[in-house]
Amino acid sequence: RGFLQILGRVTLVGVVGAAGTFWYLTYKDRNPGPQLPLDPSKKTLVILGSGWGATSLLKGLDTTDYNTVVISPKNFFLFTPLLPSVAVGTLGAKSVLQPTRYITRHKARQVSVIEAEATAVDPVNKTVTFTDTSPLRPVEPTRTIPYDYLVYAVGAETQTFGIPGVKERACFMKEIGDAEQMQTRFLDCIETAAFPGTSEEEKRRLLHMVVVGGGPTGIEMAGELHDFLEEDLKSWYPELHPYVRLTLVEALPNVLPSFSKELIAYTERTFKESKIEILTGTMVKGVNEGSVRLKPKDGEEREVPCGLVVWAAGNTARKITRDLMSQLPEHQTNKRGIIVDNYLRMPGAPSIFAIGDCTATSYAPTAQVASQQGAYLARMFKLIAKKDTLENKLESLNATSDDNDHTAEKHKEAESLKKQMDRIKLKPFQYSHQGSLAYIGSDKAIAELPIFGREWTSGGVATFLFWRSAYLSTLFSLRNRALVAGDWMRTKFFGRDVSRE
Ligand code: FAD
Ligand code: NAI
Repeated sequence: RGFLQILGRVTLVGVVGAAGTFWYLTYKDRNPGPQLPLDPSKKTLVILGSGWGATSLLKGLDTTDYNTVVISPKNFFLFTPLLPSVAVGTLGAKSVLQPTRYITRHKARQVSVIEAEATAVDPVNKTVTFTDTSPLRPVEPTRTIPYDYLVYAVGAETQTFGIPGVKERACFMKEIGDAEQMQTRFLDCIETAAFPGTSEEEKRRLLHMVVVGGGPTGIEMAGELHDFLEEDLKSWYPELHPYVRLTLVEALPNVLPSFSKELIAYTERTFKESKIEILTGTMVKGVNEGSVRLKPKDGEEREVPCGLVVWAAGNTARKITRDLMSQLPEHQTNKRGIIVDNYLRMPGAPSIFAIGDCTATSYAPTAQVASQQGAYLARMFKLIAKKDTLENKLESLNATSDDNDHTAEKHKEAESLKKQMDRIKLKPFQYSHQGSLAYIGSDKAIAELPIFGREWTSGGVATFLFWRSAYLSTLFSLRNRALVAGDWMRTKFFGRDVSRE
């Protein structure tokens, strides 16, 4: 009895302690204190984008050093690794979004957040032009502002290679709107197939889902679609299940080229067991109304009927990025994206720093790279601010009128300032690879992790649990973690919601 009493009390203290901490953290989060106002004597740092690179920079940035302006068409950060889960309703859309103001309101100095699309950057006059694209537009929707430093983090857009019908008929998987659009289309296919009188052939077409691209996005998307079809469609539309077919098309000889051979084989095996057909060495040549045109490497082009096409064929530079690069043709020679130096500065425009998917570097276009680059720039801007302050002091010292009595003193002070400036050394950016993870459906994931200098690979259910815990801890806020964990439980107990607006 004594033991049970002690156990009961310890449990009570633990529960009350955890609830109190949770309450305190959420209270602090929702009630940010007052902030310093913008300071005209500080330099202006403009950040374009609110994705992985920009948000990681904002998190680490000491805003007391600058007047910071964030411009992005989305007033939130999107946690892209969980986007395919949103597309099939495993997670709610809001669970993977974090409003940018939730971050900036906690900074020491006010940050100006502008929901607008940057349309032009002038690297010579150091200005950015942006437009409000929302339905309720202000009187003057287009504005141009000057910057002292610009962080260019606008990401990339989905590559279509100009293949006919892709833009008009396929669903992309890059933005939150893409996931919502795909879900609507997907449920439309199911409900139309369930409509009385729909022919067998039409049911087979509507319930054939095609994912294009065997990179990590395509693989994860196929895995998530499979889970929905097996775990929910089978229960709620049992009569439709026999008509379901899921195909992944990849132009290269195998899927996941950036992963090890064992993990590629494991993924292919898992897909086979899950009845996901993989067509490697096959190029999609067009997307028509109700079908895709496939061209196998050594075969004839053929038309394959389908209800849904998800396009995950990689990245390409945005128009604004191409325009910016075209203004510095002697430095910007890579069509893939912006070339940067070791300090992430744009050659030819040293006040512009570019990070993430909009750049062309030796690193893969991943969230890991973008967020490390953002964190690196936050540290860099601290040093740059220190250097700028010393430079200003030196300039004003030099500007003061010469007075013979003070010349020696002035000289000494100037030498001291120069020495302090010399001591501030900017270190080049160095990427530290933390490993790769991907969900492949059926509660299985694959992982490639560098442990003690060696590449450790694993795949299966345990890796899936690791995948979940890794992403849960990587989510930027307690709010997101609570929402995602809640959604996973909701899906486990009640299944995915098949209702649609
Ligand atoms: P983004 O995060 O794309 O952010 C770009 C920002 O710029 C956005 O806020 C956008 O609204 C804004 N923007 C766009 N146009 C303009 C404009 N004209 N003016 C101003 N702002 C603009 N990587 C991983 O490492 N691990 C994963 O598991 C992983 N999973 C992924 C899953 C999916 C489905 C996708 C699509 C990608 C995944 N990635 C993953 C890749 C990762 O999301 C990207 O590499 C990362 O988002 C790049 O960060 P970024 O800041 O460069 O761009
Ligand atoms: P990707 O570029 O990695 O893969 C696209 C694939 O589509 C390529 O294999 C290409 O051969 C294929 N393809 C292109 N055109 C085609 C066509 N017409 N027909 C058939 N196949 C075609 O793009 P993805 O998957 O969007 O990834 C982009 C970046 O994001 C990568 O760097 C990736 O590592 C990262 N990412 C990482 C994830 C993870 O770590 N779990 C998840 C998702 C993305």
